[in-house]
Amino acid sequence: MANVQGTQTTVALRPGRPTDSSACGRICFDAFEAIARQHNFHPDFPSMDVATELITMLLSHPGFFSVVAEAGGEIVGSNFLDERSPIAGVGPITVDPRVQNLRIGRGLMQAILDRAAERKFAGVRLLQSAYHSRSLALYGTLGFLPRESIACMQGPTIGALPAGYQVRRAVEADLKACNRVCTFVHGHHRAGETLDAIKLGAATVVEHEGCVTGYATDLGFLGHAVGETNRDLMALIGAASAFAGPGILVPLRNGALFHWCLGHGLRVAQVMTLMTTGLYNEPAGAYLPSVLY
Ligand SMILES: CC(C)(COP(=O)(O)OP(=O)(O)OC[C@H]1O[C@@H](n2cnc3c(N)ncnc32)[C@H](O)[C@@H]1OP(=O)(O)O)[C@@H](O)C(=O)NCCC(=O)NCCS
Repeated sequence: MANVQGTQTTVALRPGRPTDSSACGRICFDAFEAIARQHNFHPDFPSMDVATELITMLLSHPGFFSVVAEAGGEIVGSNFLDERSPIAGVGPITVDPRVQNLRIGRGLMQAILDRAAERKFAGVRLLQSAYHSRSLALYGTLGFLPRESIACMQGPTIGALPAGYQVRRAVEADLKACNRVCTFVHGHHRAGETLDAIKLGAATVVEHEGCVTGYATDLGFLGHAVGETNRDLMALIGAASAFAGPGILVPLRNGALFHWCLGHGLRVAQVMTLMTTGLYNEPAGAYLPSVLY
């Protein structure tokens, strides 16, 4: 893989390996913790163990491409591309706080975008923390367009569903119906992520008048959800036993859903920006994006 141009030290990029887990996990935790603390926000990862667990999974999952940056024989950063569905997903990207602002992040992003182009993904998506001006600027200069602001919301479970809606755990036989709803909303399916979540037992579907009208791979930071209408999402959110990680991601443009979440006691943890490059379809239904799945 290429070297990063324009840095004062030589930085080499190479594909990640499972043995990189602890170094990349430590940097992932340190980088998110440092940037959150600088802005008085809670870190996205509560501990180094949680960050390392995620990085370990990403480095061993065949559906993810990874790139690692090395300087002086030491790992200084990593980035990932979720290749499981027609629109690829970027992240988490992290650079060791001791060597940030030296264009290492730009090199890690370019390597991932080169990979997406080589694999002919129609589009690439990511979510960034709105308080982080540097990542917003970096993605913007790489061609990403801000699509919408997203509120990350956390709070007590709701435990109530709209009348006539039922929520149950998703099974593999639901995949076709899930893909149909996702294609209705986004113009493409997210079958790779959805199947993984079903196998993990994390996915739920909502049924209305005998049909699957929405699903969630998880109700939380890492999971996405789609519904034909807001009531489908309200049922999925209303049935959740917890909101995983920092919280669910609610598009602010969907004022009715945002107000409904506020009205049920959820609080805004932070605002994020959904950014994309390449193919992007304006959503035709209700959705919650994901940082990963
Ligand atoms: C985001 C992150 C990966 C970027 O890596 P980095 O190596 O520090 O960034 P780079 O030096 O490659 O790029 C930063 C670019 O933004 C520019 N920039 C920084 N602040 C800016 C601002 N306020 N306005 C405009 N441009 C700005 C820099 O000049 C640089 O551009 P250049 O390459 O043209 O000089 C790193 O800061 C990090 O790990 N942050 C914590 C974790 C995180 O937030 N990850 C992203 C999750 S979405």
